Amino acid sequence: MRLNRYPYLLLGLMLLWQPALAQSLLLDRNHGDGAAWKLEECAACHVLHRIHQQPQARNIRAIVQDKEYASCMGCHGDNGTGRKRPCEICHNSSDLPATPHRDGRFRHEFPHLAGDAACIACHDDSDMDGDFQVRQDLTLFPDMQKLMRPYFSSTDFCLRCHNRDHQISGFEIEDRHWRNPLIAMEDNYNFIDIHGHRRGGNGTYTGLRSGYKYSSRVDCTDCHAMHGTENTGLIIDHSAKGVSRLEPALGLDNISVWTGNGEYAQLCVLCHQMERTGQDSQLDTGNGLSGVHQAWGDCRGCHAHGLAGQAGL
Ligand code: HEC
Ligand code: HEC
Ligand code: HEC
Ligand code: HEC
Ligand code: HEC
Ligand code: HEC
Ligand code: HEC
Ligand code: HEC
Repeated sequence: MRLNRYPYLLLGLMLLWQPALAQSLLLDRNHGDGAAWKLEECAACHVLHRIHQQPQARNIRAIVQDKEYASCMGCHGDNGTGRKRPCEICHNSSDLPATPHRDGRFRHEFPHLAGDAACIACHDDSDMDGDFQVRQDLTLFPDMQKLMRPYFSSTDFCLRCHNRDHQISGFEIEDRHWRNPLIAMEDNYNFIDIHGHRRGGNGTYTGLRSGYKYSSRVDCTDCHAMHGTENTGLIIDHSAKGVSRLEPALGLDNISVWTGNGEYAQLCVLCHQMERTGQDSQLDTGNGLSGVHQAWGDCRGCHAHGLAGQAGL
């Protein structure tokens, strides 16, 4: 008996250990045993009201019924046809206004790619299950050893491009000054501004908002918005666009952030709240929150990426 059960136990454990990733939604040349590859008319073989019955498709079923066949290639790839893949057909301000928030003049597109093409550059094979996972939902780019090692965080993803000496072909960053964060961020992040690395308690103005839950480092996207913002440098203009792991019970999901002219107080105060009083700790930074040692004015003299003196940003 024991011997018979053993393989099942092993199999069970293996299934438990599987990372919870869906397989790719993209079609390949085996589509329909090869007979359907390179065909454009999905309607010729797939009946709209019959597809997407399985649980993995429950979140997208209704919207696909609504957008019909024009949407298919967005999620399933171009089926070898070279046709454009649509994203904005669904990810727009009326259909999915908050997934993601795209309002604001500035967004992280690329010098040669905008709109749908930019979405695909960063998310070439999302499973659209409503659960953002860096390994499934972000395009995998090679790391500094040119290996396709999976990401541990979205920061990892940013640094595969924002570095000096191993940029991604097709997405090179034009020559910039050596210290420009566009290319210096990898070194900044690894050696100077490991933002949020918990040291706890021994700084001059220490203190985090009560209920602050980050156990590890702060991600680039806690401060930077990829999909749309009114602030320069792609700094979030609203708390809902970043600071993603702030405890919802704090009620900080509807705070506006303005960071013009190097005035970062409204950004920093989302997470930081000084423990001891003094300086500007009680002053409203302008968005209803207080708790930083300087509540207004230009912070860049002391706080900027790569500024080793003040532990960077
Ligand atoms: C000539 C008929 C035909 C056409 C045209 C066709 N398919 Fe298929 N497709 C099939 C068959 C047959 C299967 C396998 C049986 C099934 O899952 O329904 C399939 C399977 C699929 C699957 C399941 C995954 C897989 O690889 O087996 C997806 C997703 C899919 N088709 C999407 C599309 C999309 C999107 C289009 C339009 C770009 C399309 N199909 C056009 C016949 C077709
Ligand atoms: C928003 C993303 C999305 C769009 C758009 C989309 N699908 Fe799907 N599709 C899915 C997901 C998710 C599944 C489930 C995948 C799985 O089984 O893991 C799926 C599964 C399928 C399958 C295989 C299983 C089934 O339900 O029969 C077919 C065939 C299919 N889609 C065809 C289409 C066609 C045709 C269109 C255009 C009308 C379309 N899909 C548009 C996300 C999408
Ligand atoms: C420069 C890379 C980049 C581009 C371009 C980009 N994204 Fe993202 N996207 C990310 C990163 C990183 C995250 C995870 C962190 C976050 O939520 O900001 C994300 C998260 C998301 C999410 C899930 C989180 C949420 O806010 O709902 C959706 C949906 C999404 N992106 C859709 C899109 C669409 C649609 C486009 C094109 C209009 C697009 N993205 C363009 C990098 C990008
Ligand atoms: C038919 C509509 C539709 C199309 C077309 C579509 N999406 Fe989505 N997508 C959704 C929906 C709906 C969700 C959210 C599911 C949820 O929140 O439950 C989603 C979720 C996402 C997410 C968040 C991660 C996840 O797994 O949920 C990303 C990233 C994303 N889409 C990117 C894209 C990109 C890139 C394209 C184009 C290549 C695209 N989507 C095309 C409807 C669509
Ligand atoms: C595929 C490569 C690539 C990835 C991945 C990438 N970027 Fe970029 N990023 C670029 C390029 C190219 C530019 C434009 C540089 C230029 O203007 O020459 C840019 C520009 C920027 C800018 C300046 C935008 C402005 O308007 O001032 C910021 C900030 C930025 N990226 C942050 C990020 C963050 C944060 C991530 C990760 C969530 C990220 N990037 C991921 C390639 C990338
Ligand atoms: C997403 C939340 C978040 C935001 C936004 C944020 N910080 Fe932080 N910051 C942290 C965390 C977490 C720590 C680590 C605190 C600790 O050591 O206990 C930290 C630490 C610091 C430190 C101490 C560095 C060190 O090595 O101990 C400085 C200085 C700092 N932040 C400045 C800023 C400034 C300036 C801003 C605004 C531009 C800002 N932070 C925005 C979360 C944030
Ligand atoms: C004259 C230099 C100077 C200027 C200007 C300055 N700061 Fe600071 N700031 C500091 C020093 C010094 C620390 C303590 C660093 C440490 O503890 O490691 C600090 C720390 C911080 C911290 C982190 C507190 C912690 O946990 O250590 C925040 C948040 C912060 N400053 C916000 C701001 C904001 C917002 C502005 C602009 C409105 C600003 N600072 C302008 C010198 C400055
Ligand atoms: C604590 C908040 C915070 C974090 C975390 C953070 N940044 Fe920044 N970043 C800023 C601020 C503030 C600026 C200055 C923006 C401005 O005033 O134009 C900036 C500027 C930049 C710029 C220059 C933008 C330009 O237009 O020249 C790049 C590139 C950049 N950051 C990339 C990153 C990357 C990559 C990460 C993660 C490794 C990251 N940042 C993490 C706050 C942050």
